Amino acid sequence: VITGYLSIVVLGASGDLAKKKTFPAIFNLYTQGFLPDELKIIGYSRSKMTTEELHTTIRGYLKADRQDPTKKSEDVIHQFLSKVTYMQGAYDTDEGYIRMNEEVSRFELEKDDKDSSTHRLYYFALPPSVYPEVSEKVRKHCMNPRGWTRVIVEKPFGKDLESSEALSSELGALFTEEQLYRIDHYLGKEMVQNLLIMRFANRFFQPIWNRDNIAHVQIVFKEDFGTEGRGGYFDEYGIIRDIIQNHLVQVLCLVAMEKPVSLSPEHIRDEKVKVLQCVEPINEEQVVIGQYEGYTDDPTVAKSSNTPTFASLALRINNERWDGVPFIVKAGKALDAKKVEIRVQFRDTPGDIFNCKKLGRNEFVMRLQPKEAMYMKLTVKEPGLDMKAIQSELDMSYNQRYEEVVIPEAYERLILDTIRGDQQHFVRRDELRVAWEIFTPLLHRIDAGKIPLLPYKQGSRGPREADELNAQTGYVRSEGY
Ligand code: BG6
Repeated sequence: VITGYLSIVVLGASGDLAKKKTFPAIFNLYTQGFLPDELKIIGYSRSKMTTEELHTTIRGYLKADRQDPTKKSEDVIHQFLSKVTYMQGAYDTDEGYIRMNEEVSRFELEKDDKDSSTHRLYYFALPPSVYPEVSEKVRKHCMNPRGWTRVIVEKPFGKDLESSEALSSELGALFTEEQLYRIDHYLGKEMVQNLLIMRFANRFFQPIWNRDNIAHVQIVFKEDFGTEGRGGYFDEYGIIRDIIQNHLVQVLCLVAMEKPVSLSPEHIRDEKVKVLQCVEPINEEQVVIGQYEGYTDDPTVAKSSNTPTFASLALRINNERWDGVPFIVKAGKALDAKKVEIRVQFRDTPGDIFNCKKLGRNEFVMRLQPKEAMYMKLTVKEPGLDMKAIQSELDMSYNQRYEEVVIPEAYERLILDTIRGDQQHFVRRDELRVAWEIFTPLLHRIDAGKIPLLPYKQGSRGPREADELNAQTGYVRSEGY
């Protein structure tokens, strides 16, 4: 818990992200006592609205008792909202930022407690197009003269290598790397954070986590709804920029990287960069992209849009551990399920005397959501008189194992990390650059319409070709998959 004066300014306060994620995450930290008593929260945006109207907008998303989300304690919500004020202002002129700074400074100085430390956190819940101007103004008018200033920025960080590098340079000229927190909320998910411990603290995994034992890896993101309401944003970016280049690549890093020298944020991110540098250029023959039928009925999407809402592709990591193992990264909207999982399939058992091949291979699955779980598919004797092999599961479902534990929201963890000054779960500039280097050539080809966009039905598994890609790259499908 930090002490002193903390000001959190949410820029883009009237938007969806702020309402659904940022304010509720700050609220959760507040109710658990992670924020200092001297707390000021300002919502800033262009929209004309009063503080009361902002309160009304966000209060529906605040859940005071997370064990029972229907039960809200009005008192605690009321207390929290009393710390939240709204300011309307433009993004591109000085005036609003001068007012913002005055308000924050007044709060910091109101108790004439000049020895106490002050902290300022600016959360950019903004459209990327205004990042440069907002950053410039915050730098010019709103820096903390007596303590730290930190800025949380949200993806998209550009649209390709060049635009991302341009944005990085602009931000880099205004803030130091220590002040910038590039958020990828997947890094705040329980199972994603578990990867590091699971892989490197278990004797089980260390000797088998390599090309000699692993045949195939899949990192899969599925949503069972389309782009409703977000078509305008999504259509400009598409599924690779929205999900794969950031969220799934971060997961891939943690699945594939070498053991870091220590748990310091720099050592961890060094290893992520290294493994990304080993990713080979993407082979177009092993790319499937698709668009769900009806996507262009969205009025915010152009009728002629060739934006993929589905993509599956094989990445190859050219190093000693992974040479020859396909890493399929797959993401899609409007599919048959809502889930995110990592599926590691092992090679066949040599000298098969039980006819295991028929049953399916060993698999280790981490389900990120819904219902966090890790399970292993393994072959066991069917209980009974016969000596019969069957496939079963060693299952660690979190809702059974940790019944009483409320798993924190990703944003909640990451905002707390920012307040604590821990950058371990944030994306470093070089990491971002390498991730763009991998995808930019493919994205340019897709944007130019050079890769066939396959239609698929809403509620389906996506284009059939994606299952074929799995099979071609050596995935052996077992029952129920
Ligand atoms: C966001 C994407 O970053 O992640 C959305 O922009 C997507 O398109 C969302 O729906 C998924 O997040 P989660 O935490 O629900 O898996």
